[in-house]
Amino acid sequence: MDPSNSPLFSPLAAGALRLPNRIVMAPMTRSRADDEGNVGALTAQYYEQRAGAGMMISEGIYPEPMGKGYVRTPGLAEAGHVVAWRRVTDAVHAAGGRIVAQLMHAGRISDPSLLPGHATPVAPSAIRPQGVTYTDDGLKPHATPRALTVPEIRMIVDNFAHAAQRAVDAGFDAVELHAGSGYLPMQFLSTRTNVRSDAYGGSALNRSRFVIEVLEAIAGAIGSARTGLKITPEKRFNDIDDADWLDTYTTLLAAIRPLQLAFLESAPEANAALYHARLRPLFDGAYFAGAGFDRARAEAALCDGSADAVVFGQLFIANPDLPRRFALNAPLAQADRATLYAGGARGYVDYPTLDALAAQAATESAE
Ligand SMILES: Cc1cc2nc3c(=O)[nH]c(=O)nc-3n(C[C@H](O)[C@H](O)[C@H](O)COP(=O)(O)O)c2cc1C
Repeated sequence: MDPSNSPLFSPLAAGALRLPNRIVMAPMTRSRADDEGNVGALTAQYYEQRAGAGMMISEGIYPEPMGKGYVRTPGLAEAGHVVAWRRVTDAVHAAGGRIVAQLMHAGRISDPSLLPGHATPVAPSAIRPQGVTYTDDGLKPHATPRALTVPEIRMIVDNFAHAAQRAVDAGFDAVELHAGSGYLPMQFLSTRTNVRSDAYGGSALNRSRFVIEVLEAIAGAIGSARTGLKITPEKRFNDIDDADWLDTYTTLLAAIRPLQLAFLESAPEANAALYHARLRPLFDGAYFAGAGFDRARAEAALCDGSADAVVFGQLFIANPDLPRRFALNAPLAQADRATLYAGGARGYVDYPTLDALAAQAATESAE
């Protein structure tokens, strides 16, 4: 498609946000925070470089210390975290961008070495995930989690609301609840990980209750026009599974409809056409489709009405000026897998823009 006619470049309203284009940067954990969960100058530079996105969704951020899931991931669990993130949001806004904080509680996917007092990870039910997790001591099998009590669930719900308020205090434009990829909210949603017999387990509506309550709490704290949700139907990452995926997600979306959230990031791992067709009519806000898109597929999704905007992950890592490259139909770089979760500046802030490549070529031809 001629880039000048591309639907990727028409503006979009998503709740309180005004996106100048429909190219959204996916939330991506990059593990560059310090051991206290504070991001630094490199992270400000990384997001600033990508501020040409319609909006950016941050890497997963733990809302409370028990939610931390991986080494060197950042938090919004205390006042110091707010100060650290403020530097990032200021840099993004100065560059003309918008950035949303993704709140991610890892639940059973965490490891005692990451948790206060080497605590046991928490989950809806005490079911150990298959597989291993990367820690500072190397790869370790997952621990068996402890099932949360109802008062503990209520405390976590409150802590999400406090973290959302901290996100706004830190200058984020909105908050996204991560209810995908096998972390705590998805552990509640999914039949394999939730065998509770109380109001949080059993029927699809009961399994949705935790996500509904967290969204109500976040929207209560910062407003539904600044609240979004991410789901990943049929993504079996982190040993998750569901006896009836479609029932779970149609039930969830019908139940949260009265909340009138700003946006939904829907990133199914399989049967994407089916999920977008069934889920989009149940959601009144901006519907973002993600996972595995390139420019042509994104334009097709916008043209056939299956999404309002498209979320790009790995392409945004390797192409900080991705919208410009799409507009010019310029070649795209590929991300280096070795530096996705480690490497400091390397593989983080050193992917060149088209302008930097042109300047480099001009210097070389002058030499
Ligand atoms: C390095 C890396 C880290 C990721 N971390 C997160 C995360 O913190 N939160 C999240 O919701 N998804 C995370 N994802 C998934 C992406 O948001 C996205 O859904 C996925 O990469 C598929 O999109 P893509 O095919 O355009 O890359 C991550 C993906 C990558 C590649």
